[in-house]
Amino acid sequence: MDKNEEKQREEEREQVVSPWEVSSSGKIDYDKLIDKFGCQRLDQSLVDRVQRLTGRPPHVFLRRGVFFAHRDLNDILDAYEKGEKFYLYTGRGPSSEALHLGHLVPFMFTKYLQDAFKVPLVIQLTDDEKCMWKNLSVEESQRLARENAKDIIACGFDVTKTFIFSDFDYVGGHILSYIFYLVLVLPKIMRKFPLQCLLQEHGEGCEVVGIFGFTGEDHIGKVSFPPVQAVPSFPSSFPHLFSGKDHLRCLIPCAIDQDPYFRMTRDVAPRIGYHKPALIESSFFPALQGETGKMSASDPNSAIYVTDSAKAIKNKINKYAFSGGQESVELHRKLGANLEVDIPVKYLSFFLEDDAELEHIKKEYGAGGMLTGEVKQRLAKVLTELVERHQVARAAVTDEMVDAFMAVRPLPNMFD
Ligand code: TYM
Ligand code: TRP
Repeated sequence: MDKNEEKQREEEREQVVSPWEVSSSGKIDYDKLIDKFGCQRLDQSLVDRVQRLTGRPPHVFLRRGVFFAHRDLNDILDAYEKGEKFYLYTGRGPSSEALHLGHLVPFMFTKYLQDAFKVPLVIQLTDDEKCMWKNLSVEESQRLARENAKDIIACGFDVTKTFIFSDFDYVGGHILSYIFYLVLVLPKIMRKFPLQCLLQEHGEGCEVVGIFGFTGEDHIGKVSFPPVQAVPSFPSSFPHLFSGKDHLRCLIPCAIDQDPYFRMTRDVAPRIGYHKPALIESSFFPALQGETGKMSASDPNSAIYVTDSAKAIKNKINKYAFSGGQESVELHRKLGANLEVDIPVKYLSFFLEDDAELEHIKKEYGAGGMLTGEVKQRLAKVLTELVERHQVARAAVTDEMVDAFMAVRPLPNMFD
């Protein structure tokens, strides 16, 4: 192994970002991720461009760089400027009953994009994926998908422009996914012995194996899932919506952990005659314990859920939110807080809308004028308001509304 290779291996050990794992020995280095994945940085000129094209102020997540990377966003905007609309695609793997605040990030942002660009949206619930990975029964995965759909609908999507589908119910996509799979794998099989291809640990031979790092121990269900997440990027997966519009472009908002799926999708798209989907990608809303991973649905004390009570939110923040404040009040007044590692400030930068107040808190807290307790108190108020608003909206979502969003139907006014 030469020096460079060694360094690269070392870095890979320190920071893992994939659809299944996000971990890092320190703070996640998003610049490095951009380099490694080969996406582009979302800079101020693009933010300004979105503002100009939509005639609306940019969403907080855009303004504050929460959405920090993209692929071909410029192309989608060029086309939009010429009057060519697109559709949005995002999704959720229904692995748990309640969403945490990190899960809300892409959905809140997608809602803004739908309103700002006035475009249709498809939302995939990958109940098949969670059935395979989490060993849930088919019935349980389907039940979770419907429960999660209620939380998604509570984000305010427009039923005249939105189609939510579960993989088990909506089979249309699967037909294309087989075609997709054949295009992806067949040429390799022709050239290579297939088993060898699948079993290679980091095969250059097989893209699904190479991109996702599958090993010989992974079962075939896992290896065959990526095309299922890929195909909604192509308009022909939705004949009731986009029939005759094979050249409609697709924009995918998601957190950067989902990038591997769409790198693969973009690689195949031109080979089967479609536009490559464009992406707009966010960083992670971190765990309470600090910025080394994303919020995990499996550790209840690492995350704030949309089902948490005001009291639970307050307790979790006070007890678990990693503080950049100093050990004693005296020291804190002298040195101020380390904002780089402080979770309350990080959380406020996602959800406190008022730019002036955020700046004020950062300045005061960083200089020692404000104490951790005060910042945590402000945060608890902001998050409680957000969560309570969500709970009210969710309680108003009926089963009939879920059926309406999930009905396979044309959307005649989806571009209005
Ligand atoms: P899932 O259910 O794990 O996550 C749903 C969406 O939330 C994002 N996300 C986060 N964003 C910010 N901070 C966090 N802490 C955080 N945790 C999760 C994810 O990136 C994702 O956008 N297989 C997918 C479902 C899927 C999908 C798609 C996602 C199918 N098709 C197309 C995006 C685009 C899943 O299980 O996501
Ligand atoms: N694979 C994602 C997960 O396990 C869920 C998902 C499906 C998704 N389709 C999507 C996320 C589209 C973002 C965009 O987390």
